[in-house]
Amino acid sequence: MDKDSSKRITERIIVTDALPYANGPLHIGHFGGVHLPADIYTRFLKRKGKDVIHICGTDENGVPITIAAEKQGISPQEIVDHYHNLMEITFKNLGVEFDNFSGTSRKVHHELAQDFFLNLYEKGYIEPIITEEFYCPKCERYLPDRYVEGTCPYCGYEKARGDSCESCGSWLEPEQLINPQCKICGSIPEKRKTKHWYLSLNKFQKKLEGWLNKKKWKKTVIRYLQGWMKEGLKPRPITRDLKWGIKVPLEEAKDKVLYVWFDAPLGYISSTIEWANKIGKPDKWKEYWQGKNTKLIHFLGKDNIVFHGIIWPATLMGYGEYILPSEIPANEYVNLEGQKISTSNNWAVWLHEYIEDFDPDFLRYYLSVIIPETKDSDFKWEEFQERVNTELINILANFVHRTLKFIQQYLDGRIPEPKILRKEDENMLKKTNELVDQIDEALTNFQFRRAVQYFIQIAAVGNRYYDQMKPWLTRKEDKEQMKTTMHLCAHIVHLLGNIGELFIPFGASRILNMLNLERKDWDSLKEIQIPKDHQIGEVNPLYKKVEDKEIVKEIRRLKMSYASIEEFKNLGLKIGLIEEIEEIEGADKLYKLTVDTGEKRTLVAGLKGHYTPQELKGKRIVVITNLQPITIRGVRSEGMLLAATEGENITLISPDQVVSPGSPVS
Ligand code: MF3
Ligand code: ZN
Repeated sequence: MDKDSSKRITERIIVTDALPYANGPLHIGHFGGVHLPADIYTRFLKRKGKDVIHICGTDENGVPITIAAEKQGISPQEIVDHYHNLMEITFKNLGVEFDNFSGTSRKVHHELAQDFFLNLYEKGYIEPIITEEFYCPKCERYLPDRYVEGTCPYCGYEKARGDSCESCGSWLEPEQLINPQCKICGSIPEKRKTKHWYLSLNKFQKKLEGWLNKKKWKKTVIRYLQGWMKEGLKPRPITRDLKWGIKVPLEEAKDKVLYVWFDAPLGYISSTIEWANKIGKPDKWKEYWQGKNTKLIHFLGKDNIVFHGIIWPATLMGYGEYILPSEIPANEYVNLEGQKISTSNNWAVWLHEYIEDFDPDFLRYYLSVIIPETKDSDFKWEEFQERVNTELINILANFVHRTLKFIQQYLDGRIPEPKILRKEDENMLKKTNELVDQIDEALTNFQFRRAVQYFIQIAAVGNRYYDQMKPWLTRKEDKEQMKTTMHLCAHIVHLLGNIGELFIPFGASRILNMLNLERKDWDSLKEIQIPKDHQIGEVNPLYKKVEDKEIVKEIRRLKMSYASIEEFKNLGLKIGLIEEIEEIEGADKLYKLTVDTGEKRTLVAGLKGHYTPQELKGKRIVVITNLQPITIRGVRSEGMLLAATEGENITLISPDQVVSPGSPVS
């Protein structure tokens, strides 16, 4: 192929965002780590005239969905629909523009995933293996890793999950847990044989190695993947004993579904198929996914790296016909006020709540500044306020406002023609042009933090120029100079409106409206394109400052929802087994109890007259263990037991199953 004909093949780009699980709302971690950078990046490429599609959807299969459904007592489909809709609206409110936002419980996705499974199966890349797995005889089901809970063998944390320990971060197999329990009912699970189908990753080791070696991805990503490759790839099970999900398309596996991490990335393809159908070109998705000249770019968080860097490309290699990932610009995590975001502790800023209180641009701006590109970053409400007020408002919005107000007030709303450019004017243009190039270069390399700094610098350059040229004086002393100054200031405002569409799209479109100018092509950003005698539109303040009291409210809300959970945990509720009951001299309502709560402790309890010693012996109760000991009638009491009172009656709170003494209650 000669040079010219190769040029004629259009380059296509697919940008994907890791599909969020439809089991809960989105928070700032999702946005800052995945969807915001992906959105800025696609907006950038689109503005450059590239043939790019931005693809996402909700991840609707797997255990997390069934857990959420069980907790809320509704069906998985209801959970999935609810969160899918919430997310779709939230993304819209935050200015995230997808070409398609699908979901993996849809028919098109089920069909695609089953086709992939069968294709790989027929080629011998998928094989059945019989293993032993935990089965809960009471719930009558096999327990997925996360449904088994027990003590972590590394750190002793008692509520470690079968796949990982939240406390020390170790990856676990459920077999490693000490005292494993069924998460649903608390019973002791047993081992049972079951058959699962495994993807033979080992057969892709060589090919993956060769492919990965050519990639110049972020160091963090490469290091992570190499760790896996060095260990040697082993077959991984890609089926599960679960009711919700995509049925394994084999007669002998009727009761099983595909493992969510096998089907989820295929959601990128099925979402693209759905998109092609919607725009009435049902085959168009193939040009992207099977065209040799497509770049596939996956935005995701660090916990997704191995799936996109190893298992997913192996799946695509096995099938053939499809392109492989080109870039995986994975990010680290966004923390919140110095702590890891925790959805179960409600230590999060929820996006759908955020947009009720603040301008979406503020979050986009602040998160762009702290995108965790190389290490975890920290969202702080006070810094949010500070950055928004001093940079976005005092620098950018202020420059836009003073320029447009001046034009409105002194020039009848018409942007004047420039005359001779002096050194100061040339210098300013040189600087802003440089910044435009730097933004381009930074974004091309996925360096969003740098890009957004350069963006604000354009406004800062504008302010400095305005201050230096003093149009409020030249208006009287040197009209020609003033006209040049204001023309160039309007040019900078135009730049901000255009580039702003990537970072702060809502404000940016207001800027363009006030200017009464169209957006321009990215490649002509540096050209000054203001028509002669151009009349601007109505001028209004761009943003409203973030007030102290708004921030205080957010911090208080965050700490309160968190504090109540912490306080509850601090009680140290545990299961206690009553071992001995003694009378206390001179007390007609009290017993002295010896209770095993993992360790022996004495409690003084007002149960006499309500329970006989025989009734109490061997009973399991709930004890508050973290209280200061007190002495009652000369007996030291080290805790309190939980009981319900109704009129005269007192009823002890007991577990409805046999639970070992010392088990935490939460
Ligand atoms: N739902 C997963 C998560 O939130 C991400 C899935 S990404 C995909 O961690 F590639 F599988 F789609
Ligand atoms: Zn159970």
